[in-house]
Amino acid sequence: MTRKVLMDADPGNDDALALMMLAAQPDIDLVALATVAGNVPADVTARNALDLVAYLGLDIPVAQGSVPLLAPYERLSASLMGPRGLGAAELPHAEGALSSLPSAELIWQMLCRYPHELEILATGPLTNLALLIRLHPEAPRLMKRLVLMGGSRFGGNTSPAAEFNIHTDPEAAHIVFSSGAPLSMVGLEVGYDHRLRREDFARLATCAPWIGAFAGQLFFYPGTPEHTLSERGWPVFDSLAAAVLIDPEAAETAEWFVDVETRGELTYGETVVDEKGRLKQKPQTKVVLGYPHDRYLELLAQSLKALD
Ligand code: RIB
Ligand code: CA
Repeated sequence: MTRKVLMDADPGNDDALALMMLAAQPDIDLVALATVAGNVPADVTARNALDLVAYLGLDIPVAQGSVPLLAPYERLSASLMGPRGLGAAELPHAEGALSSLPSAELIWQMLCRYPHELEILATGPLTNLALLIRLHPEAPRLMKRLVLMGGSRFGGNTSPAAEFNIHTDPEAAHIVFSSGAPLSMVGLEVGYDHRLRREDFARLATCAPWIGAFAGQLFFYPGTPEHTLSERGWPVFDSLAAAVLIDPEAAETAEWFVDVETRGELTYGETVVDEKGRLKQKPQTKVVLGYPHDRYLELLAQSLKALD
């Protein structure tokens, strides 16, 4: 049975790799790509999405999203992902036009077209999904699955407490976590467990010369610190969330209550994961605790080979 999947992203180099993984799956029909401000501004994520979709030969609608609901928008620093957020990857300028619908409405259109069948991979700030839920409160009940890259069990990467996707729009994240959507959360810890180094991308380029080289350009470019290239490696967060959506059975998960801090001065945007049930709230989130590294690498290699 073909799975219907929509991606909501802020490409972003790791979003791009996650998109490639989804596009490569024989049993997944990727129906749309919604974009949101995050790694780079909303117009740049939309431009990147159009160029990536064309480059991958996908014929799917691409929508532009908005900036955060309330939080002051600050893009991730350019040095982390290069000026347009795609490292040094060279992408031809696509002629295609954006959808006439904004991201939240494109997601709604797809939910109405594939009720109880649509799976969503969210790898950026949750602004679009929060707008969707505010405009169409029945939306969460129509989702088959919502896998999001965001948050963490312990500590952040943007503040000491908060992960970037959540920290960029905590109010939106709170709306999503409180919506009753069938949530799986892939936090920072999972990405940190599966860092990719230069030799990992070299191996991928061996099995998929064209797209493997492209993937390497996304991550290894003049701005990348040397220690990231050869020792520590890149935590390619969004690609782990893609792996969880592609093969959810492989993920180790625990069901806990999760909510987002929206008032804390030092903890604004923190995902509070109630592992002991101290808040006496019904657990509503599948928190991913781990994913087999060999399965992750296998999915990466299979995906790039299929696209090459
Ligand atoms: O914190 C990591 C997340 O922030 C990833 O999704 C990355 O693409 C950025 O959006
Ligand atoms: Ca992202």
